[in-house]
Amino acid sequence: MLLERIVGRRLIFVGGKGGVGKTSVSAALAHARAQQGARVLLVSTDPAHNLGHLWGCTLGDEPVRLLDAGRGLVDGVEVDPERTVERHLAAVHDLMMEMLPERLHAPARRHLELARTSPGSHESAVLERVAETAALGRDDYDLVIYDTAPTGHTLRLLALPEQLTGWAESLLRNRDRSERFSAAMSSLVTGREVAAGDRDARLRRTLIRRRERFATLRDQIADPTSSAFVLVTIAEPMPVAESLALAGELERLGIDLAALVVNRRSPADAGQWLADKRRLEDEQLAALHRAVPEAAVEQLPLLAGSVMGAAGVARLAELL
Ligand SMILES: Nc1ncnc2c1ncn2[C@@H]1O[C@H](COP(=O)(O)OP(=O)(O)OP(=O)(O)O)[C@@H](O)[C@H]1O
Ligand SMILES: [Mg+2]
Repeated sequence: MLLERIVGRRLIFVGGKGGVGKTSVSAALAHARAQQGARVLLVSTDPAHNLGHLWGCTLGDEPVRLLDAGRGLVDGVEVDPERTVERHLAAVHDLMMEMLPERLHAPARRHLELARTSPGSHESAVLERVAETAALGRDDYDLVIYDTAPTGHTLRLLALPEQLTGWAESLLRNRDRSERFSAAMSSLVTGREVAAGDRDARLRRTLIRRRERFATLRDQIADPTSSAFVLVTIAEPMPVAESLALAGELERLGIDLAALVVNRRSPADAGQWLADKRRLEDEQLAALHRAVPEAAVEQLPLLAGSVMGAAGVARLAELL
């Protein structure tokens, strides 16, 4: 059973190719765990959010109650990287104005404008929210489930804590390092050669806290008793090939694959066309088993109609 494979874990990442059922499976897992009494935070990190749409309500960067199940519950979040970027830029702006000499204020503002649109700033912001919601999960929830973006994006995200030394550094990593001003900037963010005293200490504390949060996240992701990945696919050649590549990447990253969910399995007893389709799916399933014999493969049937609203989620949850 899929549900049994995730019980006890505190961070679950649900990923896979576009359109295979990541959002539906994440929601169903959250629903099922809440019915068992768990307080679940369900977080969409996909920039093209469809979590709110699935539950039929508007979600945003702060938790909104999706389900009350007595002791258990589900709260939902759709991370808003823009908001995180803006929040950080505002904080860095204030700090810079306070710490830099007057003549550097204008270039500093220009620099921040560049940072706003720099590639990677969104990904860093999403990671920041993953780290924040994971921390929230330690305090206020039993479990956090991440409905992630299609494959490539998610892997980069999970690999990021390794690369990121901190948000401020990445925000301020310079496009025009030659400017004399960038020396002042980098000393500002590294905390080196900067005005001593209180302000320096405050900046250091901020950076250290952030670094610690990423380090905690990284440790938690690498700990199979705490975190796991649920890989969703359908039994067709392209998604299966992509899933196998993803499974390999997860192994390389040291992330535990709790289950490989083969979603939308065609029924054998609902007409010739679907029965034929099912036989083709069987071949893909066999290929999966051959390629990753150690993986726990779970199947979910194709439901009549789409999975929509709390009732649709509940219907899928009962099959877990
Ligand atoms: N077991 C199922 N039976 C029937 N329909 C399903 C099932 N699972 C998912 N669906 C439907 O398949 C479509 C895609 O599902 P979903 O949105 O969960 O996929 P996704 O992987 O999150 O997609 P995206 O990559 O676009 O975020 C939806 O219309 C959903 O209702
Ligand atoms: Mg989705």
